Amino acid sequence: MNDAQAAEEVILVSESHGILTALFNRPRKKNALTHAMYSRLVELLHYADSASAVRVFCLRGAGNCFTSGNDLMDFISNPPGDENSPVLQFLHGLVDFRKPLVAAVEGPAIGVGTTMLLHCDLVYASGTAVFQMPFTRLGLCPEAASSLLLPKIIGLARAGDLLLQGRTIDAATAERWGLLTEVLDTGSFDTLLEERLAVLAALPPEALRDTKALVRGPLAEAAHEAIRREAHRFSRRLASGEAAEAMQAFMERRPPDFSRFE
Ligand code: COA
Repeated sequence: MNDAQAAEEVILVSESHGILTALFNRPRKKNALTHAMYSRLVELLHYADSASAVRVFCLRGAGNCFTSGNDLMDFISNPPGDENSPVLQFLHGLVDFRKPLVAAVEGPAIGVGTTMLLHCDLVYASGTAVFQMPFTRLGLCPEAASSLLLPKIIGLARAGDLLLQGRTIDAATAERWGLLTEVLDTGSFDTLLEERLAVLAALPPEALRDTKALVRGPLAEAAHEAIRREAHRFSRRLASGEAAEAMQAFMERRPPDFSRFE
């Protein structure tokens, strides 16, 4: 199997009635995102942005998990180098995407699984959803413009709880804090989601694009800059002893020990 075929299997794409759904499909690894998956997502964002038949882009995860975030092993062996790295292209691509971007979150949304939601226009979650950005405990720092957008959305005090302490929050808390559009009943999640996507896809496309440009446009340049600023520090952090200890601990399934670091 070549890389392109492998990428097609780990991002399952369906397109119908104007809705393109990209499904993260590595359930045995909790849909952890690899370089190949980011590359495929970048292609899909480009395609969806220009294809007139696509009205709405929906991100989703297989197996009652949204995504456990960056694949930690892939990240260590292929650290994102520059602006052309697939993960950075994906993040900038989210900012530039002109049509409605929807996330359907079931189960864990960890790391970039939560930060990518800040770029989604509508976020629906089931009662099983949990959100966490465990950057500091991995020796890392925020990404995806979360250092800019999260405090704007939920305030500095709550952003501190999530970004500095890596607190896990449930769907009800995320909804109360303004991170979600709506929590949908877990048992009827698919039906309720389909209903909402169908309503959105039937709206006039140019009015949707203009509205999105007005709502998101003023923040776009600042978001691109934040992504670049964060990426610079993130790369340094990935190469740090703190991150090495955190990754080693994850692989050995033991708590990390940061007591020797200054
Ligand atoms: N990168 C690589 N592998 C990952 C992963 C990640 N981000 N998240 C999970 N996995 C792997 C686990 O190593 C495990 O692999 P194994 O079966 O070969 O041992 C498998 O996925 C299942 O994970 P497990 O932890 O057993 O599932 P769980 O249901 O108990 O917990 C999570 C699910 C998502 C809460 C938990 O896996 C987790 O916290 N993962 C790490 C998230 C993270 O730190 N992301 C990076 C943020 S920058």
